[in-house]
Amino acid sequence: MSKTKEFKRLPKNVLPKHYNLELTPDLEAFKFKGRTSISIDILERTNQITLNALDIEISKATIALSDLIVETKNIEFSTENETATVTFEKELPVGKGELNFVFNGELNDKMKGFYRSKYFTPSGEERYAGVTQFEATDARRCFPCWDEPACKATFDITLVVSQDRVALSNMPVKKEEALENGLRKVEFDRTPIMSTYLVAVVVGEYDFVEGKSSDGILVRVFTPVGKKEQGLFALEVATKVLPYYKDYFNVAYPLPKMDLIAIADFSAGAMENWGLVTYRETYLLVDSANTSSIRKQSIALTVGHEIAHQWFGNLVTMEWWTHLWLNEGYASFVEFLCVNHLFPEYDIWTQFVTDMYTRALESDCLKNSHPIEVPVNHPSEVDEIFDEISYNKGASVIRMLHHYIGDEDFRKGMNIYLTRHQYQNTCTEDLWNALQEASSKPVAAVMSTWVKQMGFPVVSVKSEQKGNQRVLTLSQSKFMADGSKSTDEFWMIPIAISTAKAPGEIAKNFILDERSKIITLDDISENDWIKINPGTVGYFRTSYTSEMLLQLIPAVKSMQLPALDRLGLIDDLFAMVQAGQAKTADALKLIDAYRNETNYTVWSSITNSLCKLQVLLSHTDLVENFNRYGVNLYKPIADRLGWDAKENESHLDTLLRSLVINRLVSFRCPKICEEAKRRFKEHVENVKVLPADLRSACYKANLQDGDEKTYEEMLKLYRSTDLHEEKDRISRALGSIRNIEILKKVIDFAMSDEVRAQDSVFVIVAVAMNAKGRDMTWEFFKQNSEKLLQQYQGGFLLARLIKYLTENFASEERALEVEEYFKTNEFPSTERTVSQSIETIRLNAAWLNRDLDSTKEYLLQQ
Ligand code: BES
Ligand code: ZN
Repeated sequence: MSKTKEFKRLPKNVLPKHYNLELTPDLEAFKFKGRTSISIDILERTNQITLNALDIEISKATIALSDLIVETKNIEFSTENETATVTFEKELPVGKGELNFVFNGELNDKMKGFYRSKYFTPSGEERYAGVTQFEATDARRCFPCWDEPACKATFDITLVVSQDRVALSNMPVKKEEALENGLRKVEFDRTPIMSTYLVAVVVGEYDFVEGKSSDGILVRVFTPVGKKEQGLFALEVATKVLPYYKDYFNVAYPLPKMDLIAIADFSAGAMENWGLVTYRETYLLVDSANTSSIRKQSIALTVGHEIAHQWFGNLVTMEWWTHLWLNEGYASFVEFLCVNHLFPEYDIWTQFVTDMYTRALESDCLKNSHPIEVPVNHPSEVDEIFDEISYNKGASVIRMLHHYIGDEDFRKGMNIYLTRHQYQNTCTEDLWNALQEASSKPVAAVMSTWVKQMGFPVVSVKSEQKGNQRVLTLSQSKFMADGSKSTDEFWMIPIAISTAKAPGEIAKNFILDERSKIITLDDISENDWIKINPGTVGYFRTSYTSEMLLQLIPAVKSMQLPALDRLGLIDDLFAMVQAGQAKTADALKLIDAYRNETNYTVWSSITNSLCKLQVLLSHTDLVENFNRYGVNLYKPIADRLGWDAKENESHLDTLLRSLVINRLVSFRCPKICEEAKRRFKEHVENVKVLPADLRSACYKANLQDGDEKTYEEMLKLYRSTDLHEEKDRISRALGSIRNIEILKKVIDFAMSDEVRAQDSVFVIVAVAMNAKGRDMTWEFFKQNSEKLLQQYQGGFLLARLIKYLTENFASEERALEVEEYFKTNEFPSTERTVSQSIETIRLNAAWLNRDLDSTKEYLLQQ
């Protein structure tokens, strides 16, 4: 945190208005040359200009003023501040100027700045594309610039590239001109005024499909050569979502074109560069025979997310990274609006709760969480907040707000916000003001309690029947993972209540704006259940008395209680278990009421909770007992669904089958594993191709008892496909091998040239998730830390690796070891993750100590 104090933002005495930027990448020597001339406003007399530059060599800097030439005295670089300071012979007067740089750099292999991305031609030749990834603070690695989101300017971009390469940037091509030596110069139209982190160029070989949205925007999806049909799904989503957002926000997309492109080496999932959105291949490409339903769904969400940023982030941008959540939380909410509109059959808002909301609560109850709005300065601090809090909590509190003010006022407010601040920068308050204006509700007062303080409340509820009235006492305190109670914090909580009288409806609606409040419900019998937070909309947990919980159980069994309420109930109880406020056995008893459950998302939520328990019990001798419990729980639903998809089966049943069979494989259900292996065999022998939705499970079934031969067979399969999704599926399944010697080979494989750096992390994580590989991967990490640090420096991939390699330990001894290790070894951008992991290890240890005996007793009774 000390970095925050030392680090300074750029001085604002000189500001950029416009950049002419020319880049000449050399895709064979992995270098690039660049020239930029920046039109600047000199606001105060100065003899110095400081701007950002990092890892580029500036060979020349000059300045031209309207009637004056001032010589450059020197340029000084600060790697610490990532800046270049140009000092001039004389003071520059207030006014306009033209600042010119000539520079060159390396097309690096770190997936940031201007970097190289490896691909293979259809004939198997290895080649490289030149790609940019600038968010959050890496435009400065490509050209000298004011690399802060508030320093917006326009850009005229020019690329000098080989004749036979595709050259793309944010805007359409304005002019192309052939040069000698087989080169050509491509000039692009001027961009609107925008932030540097959204500038992008791509040079490489691609095919594309194209379409036009109903509002006249040219949409293209660029794919590897020979695979353009894999772009069709994303093309459909993108062309449909542009007019949907235009209508929703009542603001048009301002650029004439929208390109989506699959980049082979890509560190994040996708990046919203204005007009040229870049994606990991697996987040964009759909191969109809080989893409699973869950992947397709995730692609739709991702496309919806990045296109949402074109308004939220690109047109209106946060003033500084402290307000990053405005971008990411908001886009993470809107992506669900998009998918709900395009694919109503996905029931995506229900999935929101397991995918976004419960994950947010999970990390936000830690002492090492952070408020949504958090001071950050140094780039390593900025990188760190692309996390569950900015994304998942951000989206969850927006969803809560959306329910609180209603869709109509929400849209009205969004329109006010976007039109008022277009081409400018904002803070969180600007959003609240617009929504408050539209709704006449105290948005700022309510929302600041959610955005400015970390954590969330638990609402405890007591109930008393008086005649035909029910008197409820609700009180709030902070929910903490270790079960400690704190009443220092206080939230304005929009609360709704439903009852047995009308399960899907809201009986009462109010703001809990005190520590505790008494609410009376009329006309209700003493047998009627009460559900707090119907729809699981409020960002809080609910703690019921055991009588109230008992009353809800029949409604769970009969599924009279809506899916989101069934889901919320079990997830809340499980969180209480982890916090020591309920027993593991109580949660398992409640799960009993879900045996007839049919809803995919409810199962997915139960599965998340049981996976945590499975990890915990992997430290004990209860593994087999728990496996038996799991088989018993999931087998009936697997039998009901069968192995083969029904004709016209719903998307959600397809997802459910995949989930359930996967679980049964992991519980080592003999029948399921046997059938899975049989189907795998037919698959590799080309007798019957496995549907993509079942492949992960079947691969794992085949591998978990496998030997050297099985491993080799799997590698062969890996080498035989050029579909990234399939490679991911296979390489991650390798983690389920139980033979430690082979697992070591998996780690070597993960680090080999055969696995891209962006994917290695996930293969190693897959090994770490296997109890047999847990200690080994941690040892591996410590022994290879330098190499890993070098490869992933400053990226969130490293943070993710550390999280999954450490957080599943469950003893004080391990907590101390991890703590000690990271005290003596510094990993920038991962400090908070490390603290969270250590905290989680201690929570695991406490949970295990507390509940082992009673859990054992429960499992033995089964
Ligand atoms: N703006 C981010 C990309 C990004 C992430 C840049 C981290 C710098 C650091 C983009 O909009 C994003 O959020 N991508 C997600 C995928 C999305 C579907 C949630 C990602 O990359 O995980
Ligand atoms: Zn985003």
